[in-house]
Amino acid sequence: MQKLSSRSLAPDFGMEISGIDFSKPLESDDINFIRNAWVKASGVLLFRGQDITPQDHVRLTSYFGGVYDKGATANPVLAHYYADGFPQIYRVSNKKINGKPLGREDAGTYWHSDSAWDPAQPRGSILHAIEIPSAGGDTMFANMYQAYDALSEPMKKMLDGLTAEHSLAAAVLRTSYAKEFSGKLDEASKKNAIWPVVRTHPYSGRKALFVNPGFTARILELSQTESDVVLELLFKHSTSPEFIYRHSWQLHDVLMWDNYCNMHYAVANYKAHGDRFLHRTTVLPD
Ligand code: OGA
Ligand code: MN
Repeated sequence: MQKLSSRSLAPDFGMEISGIDFSKPLESDDINFIRNAWVKASGVLLFRGQDITPQDHVRLTSYFGGVYDKGATANPVLAHYYADGFPQIYRVSNKKINGKPLGREDAGTYWHSDSAWDPAQPRGSILHAIEIPSAGGDTMFANMYQAYDALSEPMKKMLDGLTAEHSLAAAVLRTSYAKEFSGKLDEASKKNAIWPVVRTHPYSGRKALFVNPGFTARILELSQTESDVVLELLFKHSTSPEFIYRHSWQLHDVLMWDNYCNMHYAVANYKAHGDRFLHRTTVLPD
């Protein structure tokens, strides 16, 4: 058995786990330790120094649930960002090879929860840093349990029971998706889901605020004006520095998050300081 140790990344948020090597299959004790830690750490786990292959990355992902592999076929607009021969691996990068983008540039450069517009929203994502700039290019994470817990009781009471529509079309209007989906708003508007504004996490049983500036179009039970103002308030509240862990990448970091209780934000301030290239897999609920 491998000897694992852990430390907090932020107060009651995020955990770095050391003493593990993802280039080898894991033993069930270690898998259980990490699965439990993923819940206990409110969704964010970090593993340093993991010089892994795409095969290792896919195997690692399979320990947490299903491994999403439909990206190369599900969405023609994003298909070319998937790695050749690895339909499970999405490339996030600003690099160009012979003038062709190596991966998706400016993925997630706004607060969001991945694929919130999907009624079968994937639980998590696992990023592996293959190339990092000398400065910048951090990823920020918001703890949406803490954001919920910190609301006043009257506000909690008002929000409990409300639902919101999340859509890719909202992101096309507001975010870097505009580039890829310009003229394809029809296609994007077919991708939408309705989620409770206060979402109970299926593994922790805890309540998390579940709205995000990227994809949340409106709160259905409120008027348009009420929804706009309440969403703006919740976006401001949930991105307070108190609920944030800001990750400064090192080469071969592996970092995972939980979309049901985290938002994240890619800080695109690094481009004068080198290239950035990460592999991402997507964990389906098990
Ligand atoms: C993502 C994403 C963040 C980053 O891959 O889903 O938002 O920092 N990436 O690259
Ligand atoms: Mn993302």
